[in-house]
Amino acid sequence: MSFREMPNNNTSSRPLNVLIIAAGLGTRMKSTRAKVLHELGGSPLILYTVRAAQALEPRSIITIVGYQAEEVERVVRAEIGELASFAVQEKQRGTGDAVESARSLLENSDSLVLSLYGDVPMIRVETLRKFIEHHNSSGAACSILSVRLENPTGYGRIVRDTSGAFRKIVEQRDATEEERQIREINSGIYCFESTVLFDALRKVEPHNDQGEYYLTDVAEIILGSGGAVSVYVINDPREVSGINTRAELAEFENLIRRSAIRRLMIESGVTFIDPSHAYISAEAQIGRDTIIHPNVTIEGKTVIGEGCVIRAGARITNSRLGDNVTVKDHSIIVDSQIESNCSVGPFAHLRMNALLEEKATVGNFVEVKKSRLKRGAKAMHLTYLGDATIGERTNIGAGTVTCNYDGVNKHETIIEDDVKIGSDTMLVAPVRVGARSKTGAGSVITRDVPPDSMVAGVPAEVKKKLK
Ligand code: UD1
Ligand code: CA
Repeated sequence: MSFREMPNNNTSSRPLNVLIIAAGLGTRMKSTRAKVLHELGGSPLILYTVRAAQALEPRSIITIVGYQAEEVERVVRAEIGELASFAVQEKQRGTGDAVESARSLLENSDSLVLSLYGDVPMIRVETLRKFIEHHNSSGAACSILSVRLENPTGYGRIVRDTSGAFRKIVEQRDATEEERQIREINSGIYCFESTVLFDALRKVEPHNDQGEYYLTDVAEIILGSGGAVSVYVINDPREVSGINTRAELAEFENLIRRSAIRRLMIESGVTFIDPSHAYISAEAQIGRDTIIHPNVTIEGKTVIGEGCVIRAGARITNSRLGDNVTVKDHSIIVDSQIESNCSVGPFAHLRMNALLEEKATVGNFVEVKKSRLKRGAKAMHLTYLGDATIGERTNIGAGTVTCNYDGVNKHETIIEDDVKIGSDTMLVAPVRVGARSKTGAGSVITRDVPPDSMVAGVPAEVKKKLK
């Protein structure tokens, strides 16, 4: 039974709102960019929390923004749209003050408020579900997610009385020597009854070493006014560890990378020649028996079919590959689609909606931009194809260029089926080459070529009819 259906108290029926605290700069990143915008596994850090929150199907996800608020808002909204709302914390006066800035959105909501951080990316949805379930069945007004650490330095400590009941949270810098020995720490993840939270927040005062409004004080205040506070202890500290420095960011990157690769090997049947030298986004899907050679980077929502071979040094970003595609060494494929049985590279560059239909081949040092190569078309050597359509079985000779840009506008080149474009042909767009025609080496094509013709020269003229 999920927590949604739990009949044991009447609290489980009220709505869930998720708060994500993400107003800070993250000074220790030594960056001009807000910490939560730094990328991890190809996604801005904050989206890990946002996605976990979204999976809980809350009524709303309120992100508390401050530093680079507009950019953070844009990134979150792009991910979850309508579900997102925002509260601005103008000045960073502490975690309590951060939550205070969402008062008008939540104070009268009679909801359950789950409070998360935007810089804690490894938290699992399952853990949050269990935490909420725990909160609902405990009858507490506030629940705190805690974990025991070998080295708790820097964290707020969970102080319990002799019977083990929760008493308060004390920050490292405000703690006594005795309190500093405590190894159970506050993760910074909480569940609150909304009304109780905002009542207690009014009573928080900045009487601490940093002169900040601490959200952690809310727990003690609730306890003091007769409310119950419960603590939910989890086992894996990694789930709640935040990212503070670039070194930590790199560690997490490595973790995510390794788990994505492991999943692909174990669950999808992908071969990695050297798993320690492959860079695969967590969102990528790769089909069985595909072989990934060393130093391959696969980014974003890339989908690769079965039986493909991706050779060393290739980068594939937000693209879709069918089955049995070969991508040879050092090719770059961005925002493009390659159908089954195609071959690309070495040293090819496909970008901006390049489309290779079945069995098309793009070879050495060929760039393809916003162009479509139909079934079986080939461009093997040293070619630029931009804003072009290449017909079925058409062969593009070495050194061919679609001259698509006149200095002001881009123009289209259409080459019909079964054409043979001779080496070093310049196609001055807009231009069309009719089916089954041929162009001589070094031709400059400035006018449309009728079907079944052989053209050559500068500019090219019809020399003879082929049929
Ligand atoms: C906080 C907790 C501590 C807990 C730890 C877990 C408090 C007072 N302490 O400490 O008990 O062990 O988290 O990581 O809450 N932020 C804002 N606005 C602010 C202040 C902070 O958005 O005014 C954001 C920060 O950017 C950060 C998060 O809130 O993402 C936590 O703030 P931070 O100052 O790092 O608190 P900690 O010292 O880590
Ligand atoms: Ca922190």
